[in-house]
Formats: sequence, C-alpha cells, structure tokens
Amino acid sequence: MSGAKIEVFIPAARIAERVAELGAQINADYAGQSVVVVGVLKGSFMFMADLVRHLSIPVRLDFMGTKSYVGTTSSGQVQITKDLDKPVEGEHVLLVEDIIDTGLTLSYLRRNLEQRRPLSLKTIAFLDKPSQRKVEIQADYVGFEIENRFVIGYGLDFEQQYRQLPDLCVLAG
Ligand code: IMP
Repeated sequence: MSGAKIEVFIPAARIAERVAELGAQINADYAGQSVVVVGVLKGSFMFMADLVRHLSIPVRLDFMGTKSYVGTTSSGQVQITKDLDKPVEGEHVLLVEDIIDTGLTLSYLRRNLEQRRPLSLKTIAFLDKPSQRKVEIQADYVGFEIENRFVIGYGLDFEQQYRQLPDLCVLAG
C-alpha cells in the first residue's frame, strides 16, 4: 500500500460497540415496521454490512452509487452512478452514508429519494464532520462526530485505496 504511514484513529473494537448501539436503536425506533436500507456506494459498504447484522426488523437492502470526490477535495458535484433496483414508494427508507463532510451528497440524495415518495426517509452516517458543512443538513443517526481530518479505512478511501482496513485510520506524515 505505497509505503504511506497509517495511524489508527478509531479502533475496530470501538467501532463494533458503536455499530451495535446504533443497531439496537434502529430496532427500537422501527419496531413493528419493515425498512429498505439503502447503502451509498462505495464508502458505506462495511458499515452497512456490520449494521444490518444487528437488525432484527425485516429489511430489504438496496444500493445507490454516487461520485463526487477527486482526491481529498470535494468537487461539489454529485452524480448517480448506480440507481436503486426497485421503487421505494410507500416504504420506510433508511439511507446509509459513510461520512457527511460538506453535506452536498446527503442533501442531493435526500432530495432525490424524497421525490420517490417513501413512507418515511431517515439517514444514518457512520461519521460526521460538522465543521465542513456547505449546506445545513444532519443525519438522524451518527456513529461518530469527528474533527476535520481526512480519514480512511472501514470502507472509506483515499483515491480508491485503503477501504479494506478494519480500523478507521488517518494517513500520517
Ligand atoms: P460531502 O458531499 O462533502 O458531504 O462528502 C461526502 C463524501 O465525501 C463521502 O461519502 C465520502 O465518500 C467523501 N469523504 C468526505 N470526507 C472524507 C474523508 O475524510 N475520507 C474519505 N472520504 C471522504
């Protein structure tokens, strides 16, 4: 992996604890209901895989793909590279994001999904960097709020590398 120095920022064990808490909260909030869990590719894949293993409510899984980032700077442009397989009209939808930074991706996806008339639409983000917002938006559930650092691992990439790391890490030096 190109010899870059990688430091652990949030260890896998702490992530696992927090994901279990989020799962329990979602089970309680959606008790008696079924949910379409929509993962935003690619960054949310690991978080979503861990989260849904804690869900005891009936779920259907679907994915959307977006492209917005080149390197470490937001281009401000959001493009759908993969759309949902099935309509979500009349369904409870839980949108799963890896991280909210400027908020542009989440705000675009929220607007896009709301037009499909779900019964409800909530969002969950593994990470939140509130200091970087360009649009005012908040997720309904957040794993960890972090300062403005570029993080990798647990699904998140730097130029498509490092997604497979089990810990959330930072590139040092
Ligand atoms: P936003 O549209 O600026 O909120 O950015 C959302 C997307 O940017 C996320 O879904 C990530 O793919 C990417 N992103 C933002 N911050 C980071 C980071 O620290 N590491 C890796 N990807 C990031």
